[in-house]
Amino acid sequence: MITVVFVYFQPFIDIMLKGKKILIGITGSIAAYKSILLIRLLIKAGAEVKVVMTPSAKDFVSPLVLSTLSKNEVIVDLTNEHVWANHVMLGRWADVMLIAPLSCNTLAKMANGFCDNLLSAVYLSATCPVAVAPAMDEDMWHHPSTNRNLELIKSYGNKIIAVEKGELASGLFGDGRMAEPETILNYLVENFFRGNELEGKKVLVTAGPTYEAMDPVRFIGNHSTGKMGFAIAEEMYLEGADVTLVTGPTNQQVNYKNINVIHITSSDEMFDACSKHFINADIAVMSAAVADYRPIETSLQKIKKQEQEFNLQLTRTKDILAHLGKEKKQNQFLVGFALETNNEKQNAMGKLKNKNADCIILNSLNDKEAGFGFDTNKISILYRDGSETNFDLKSKKEVAKDIVSFVISHVNEK
Ligand code: CTP
Repeated sequence: MITVVFVYFQPFIDIMLKGKKILIGITGSIAAYKSILLIRLLIKAGAEVKVVMTPSAKDFVSPLVLSTLSKNEVIVDLTNEHVWANHVMLGRWADVMLIAPLSCNTLAKMANGFCDNLLSAVYLSATCPVAVAPAMDEDMWHHPSTNRNLELIKSYGNKIIAVEKGELASGLFGDGRMAEPETILNYLVENFFRGNELEGKKVLVTAGPTYEAMDPVRFIGNHSTGKMGFAIAEEMYLEGADVTLVTGPTNQQVNYKNINVIHITSSDEMFDACSKHFINADIAVMSAAVADYRPIETSLQKIKKQEQEFNLQLTRTKDILAHLGKEKKQNQFLVGFALETNNEKQNAMGKLKNKNADCIILNSLNDKEAGFGFDTNKISILYRDGSETNFDLKSKKEVAKDIVSFVISHVNEK
């Protein structure tokens, strides 16, 4: 039986960005239209946003749009009808200054300390960290002066958000597209706003299905999407943990490049990867839908159809959770999953004990609007001391948060 919850989940960027002060600098580039989307995402995530623009940026995006979305006045000039714009205080107000898009021209000014407009003055006086998202045509992007200027601003401590390959404003295809707003958002969270509840902890998470080969082209698998495991891995990471994610075949991708993702196919490969990484782990969460059986033999040749009936002999796979439970040391915290249809609590408690886990996340297929096919879920967490924490039906995003919060509050109890 598959024992994983399939959920749709977005990372917890809203929680991480809530109340954070982001100062956006916009320069003259076609990519300025993406800043509109970026500001909208930031505001939706609960961040406070202020915008400064270069005069030429106004040719690409209207200050009225930006002030409406950011809910703050957009500042372009150092003086406005004899009133001086306080660039120093803007740079001190922000938790992070993000220049997106960053044009070649403003890059060159930043590299050389020019201060001929409000944006460059704010940049030079900013005491907060600064990240930039360059946007330019491929030839400009590869020009030696661009490379040199990027190296220079990097050496000043500025962070560079990598450009993407794709269609460019010139009609050419190549490097130089500004990163997408969602990528920039994830970058900000990853680099500036991770929590520290799990700082210093190593976390191992499994996700997705396993495929058990019958022959070179066929396998026994299941419908796990891996979303739950990926969500847990990302949430652990956002709480400061050093995360290794061992995943079976899925379409999921992690949003944070510093999560160590190990791709496996079979339960045996997942077993090997987990055994290796569990040695140094503080916490392990086994949310993968590991196949319980695999073919006794894997044919080296494609199996040809023959008789009307075909019998495939299967044998049990290694139980990874149970194995880690045996190996577990006093300071390690092990979490398993159980998806049950009957005698739910009893069965899940049995798994907790038999596999020597510290807690089991129980889903019942009997709960309405919970589990497969719903955006909501309802879990109970059974703890090793016999206690049971029941959670209301809630969005799956909140469910993943609950699981990680539970682990955080119990991991140091040993
Ligand atoms: N698990 C594992 N290795 C396996 C099978 C399952 O690590 N070979 C883990 C899953 O990742 C999950 C938990 O064990 O955390 C599920 O327990 P399991 O007893 O396998 O549940 P079911 O597959 O539902 O088994 P049963 O049919 O006995 O209910």
